[in-house]
Amino acid sequence: MKMLGVLLLLLTLSNAIDLGGEEDEKPCDYNLTLEPRPHSVSILEFGAVGDGRTLNTLAFQNAIFYLKSFADKGGAQLYVPPGRWLTGSFNLTSHLTLFLEKGAVILGSQDPSHWEVVEPLPSYGRGIELPGGRYRSLINGYMLHDVVITGDNGTINGQGSVWWDWFSSQTLNYSRPHLVEFVSSKYVVVSNLTFVNAPAYNIHPVYCSNVHVHNISVSAPPESPYTVGIVPDSSDNVCIEDCSIDMGYDAIALKSGWDEYGIAYGRSTTYVHIRRVYLQSSSGSSLAFGSEMSGGISKVLVEQVHLYNSFSGIQFRTTKGRGGYIREIIISDVEMENIHMAFGASGQFGSHPDDKFDPNALPDLDHITLQDVIGTNITIAGSFTGIQEAPFTSFCLSNISLSANSGSPTWVCSNVSGSSDSVFPQPCSELNSSYSSSCFSLLTVNGKTAVL
Ligand SMILES: *[C@@H]1O[C@H](CO)[C@@H](O)[C@H](O)[C@H]1NC(C)=O
Ligand SMILES: *[C@@H]1O[C@H](CO)[C@@H](O)[C@H](O)[C@H]1NC(C)=O
Ligand SMILES: *[C@@H]1O[C@H](CO)[C@@H](O)[C@H](O)[C@H]1NC(C)=O
Ligand SMILES: *[C@@H]1O[C@H](CO)[C@@H](O)[C@H](O)[C@H]1NC(C)=O
Ligand SMILES: *[C@@H]1O[C@H](CO)[C@@H](O)[C@H](O)[C@H]1NC(C)=O
Ligand SMILES: *[C@@H]1O[C@H](CO)[C@@H](O)[C@H](O)[C@H]1NC(C)=O
Ligand SMILES: *[C@@H]1O[C@H](CO)[C@@H](O)[C@H](O)[C@H]1NC(C)=O
Ligand SMILES: *[C@@H]1O[C@H](CO)[C@@H](O)[C@H](O)[C@H]1NC(C)=O
Ligand SMILES: *[C@@H]1O[C@H](CO)[C@@H](O)[C@H](O)[C@H]1NC(C)=O
Ligand SMILES: *[C@@H]1O[C@H](CO)[C@@H](O)[C@H](O)[C@H]1NC(C)=O
Repeated sequence: MKMLGVLLLLLTLSNAIDLGGEEDEKPCDYNLTLEPRPHSVSILEFGAVGDGRTLNTLAFQNAIFYLKSFADKGGAQLYVPPGRWLTGSFNLTSHLTLFLEKGAVILGSQDPSHWEVVEPLPSYGRGIELPGGRYRSLINGYMLHDVVITGDNGTINGQGSVWWDWFSSQTLNYSRPHLVEFVSSKYVVVSNLTFVNAPAYNIHPVYCSNVHVHNISVSAPPESPYTVGIVPDSSDNVCIEDCSIDMGYDAIALKSGWDEYGIAYGRSTTYVHIRRVYLQSSSGSSLAFGSEMSGGISKVLVEQVHLYNSFSGIQFRTTKGRGGYIREIIISDVEMENIHMAFGASGQFGSHPDDKFDPNALPDLDHITLQDVIGTNITIAGSFTGIQEAPFTSFCLSNISLSANSGSPTWVCSNVSGSSDSVFPQPCSELNSSYSSSCFSLLTVNGKTAVL
């Protein structure tokens, strides 16, 4: 029983999701119980030295290569004891648990030659920061299933300051790496850890299904350029819960590919459930959708969130040429404080990968509901600036109360329509038709939630 613990949980989960239709469970609605793996080895057995100076890339690679042989025997655990374990990037394998003991710190090398350069993601067509390739992430999973990264509050430290400096001085040769990236993988858990100082993103699941991020803490300094916490990208059935994220740019950003590359790849980010998170982002948005959203973003439920000390609270970003959509989104039960702009929706946001994008590929923003929000020290209540040829529609605002330290928070609206009910201060006329049945809402069918 123990041997197959993780696998059994995941199979049960997969049944729940395979039911299809309206009675699916939401991505967070199951008990995440991780059974111990039947085999465990320590990174020490592979010659690793936890002095913060010795490079341990080979030790990690060799350990994981060895643990591959346990994949059909219930999987295995790679145990990382207390210490400072410097490493370049390495790959995980299926049926593996990477466990970081209390006091264990994995340190990302500051030497770019320890980070392989790889092809861009097909849905982006190029590196996000520079044309061409990109550095592989510190910890990678490619076409895996049943993988867990967890611990007793161990730390993954990207030592990103060198990357931030290279980015700011425009001396990078390739787009910056992330800390953890899963590509085309299924049944992934990241839990009970601390992430600090990522070069760029912290956790990037792309083309993945069934990703559960639970009880992690993520931070980077406010001035770190474009650092982002968790980025679900062209992935489905994603749960993010009980996390605290404090970043330079966005805390959580949902994406799905860039212009013609994202449209051609055509994989959406859908069935996402985010709850009980504390988010802070100094120059971006606590919670962001896009601007890369060309594969579409839909069926997202966000609830019980606390957003604070941020430039923006919740932002929807897109531009002409993206195509795609952002629709069927519900954000509910939100506390905000010390936020310059509580809500933003912009159709003029972000750049293009190259000049081959189709300016007539217009994004669709529709059926977005924001409800039960209390905000204090807010300067701009909402700025909604849609696209003339494709106005944003069915934005529904309900039970929202925002206050400023002096005066009243303001609204800006153009090329948007929607409705509102019990919203203070009163929104612009584009959003004040009466709350109607065209608003997207959660329906409950047999005690389960229909949209997710
Ligand atoms: C999950 O665990 C909690 C506490 O152990 C329990 O009360 C609840 O019924 C469980 N839920 C499911 C769906 O098994
Ligand atoms: C890591 O996985 C990638 C495939 O994503 C592969 O190309 C690369 O060679 C692997 N690196 C190592 C060191 O195994
Ligand atoms: C969250 O992680 C911390 C260690 O980082 C641990 O002490 C705590 O018990 C965890 N909480 C839950 C609910 O798993
Ligand atoms: C987890 O570790 C971080 C960094 O070492 C520390 O700041 C934090 O207080 C720890 N959290 C818990 C719950 O032990
Ligand atoms: C970029 O490439 C140049 C030329 O090969 C090299 O001198 C420089 O150190 C590289 N920069 C980084 C940040 O790797
Ligand atoms: C997180 O840690 C807590 C406390 O040790 C443990 O009870 C829980 O099972 C862990 N959860 C996950 C998902 O790793
Ligand atoms: C109000 O929020 C702004 C950010 O928009 C922040 O700079 C300022 O310090 C906050 N004021 C107080 C009194 O917290
Ligand atoms: C309005 O929202 C607040 C939280 O922001 C909540 O406590 C209250 O119950 C909501 N009122 C209604 C009528 O739903
Ligand atoms: C729509 O946006 C365009 C700019 O993109 C602006 O010129 C126009 O006035 C807007 N239309 C309305 C009705 O606000
Ligand atoms: C809609 O908003 C405009 C401007 O804010 C206001 O003049 C008008 O009375 C509002 N209409 C309704 C039905 O609340």
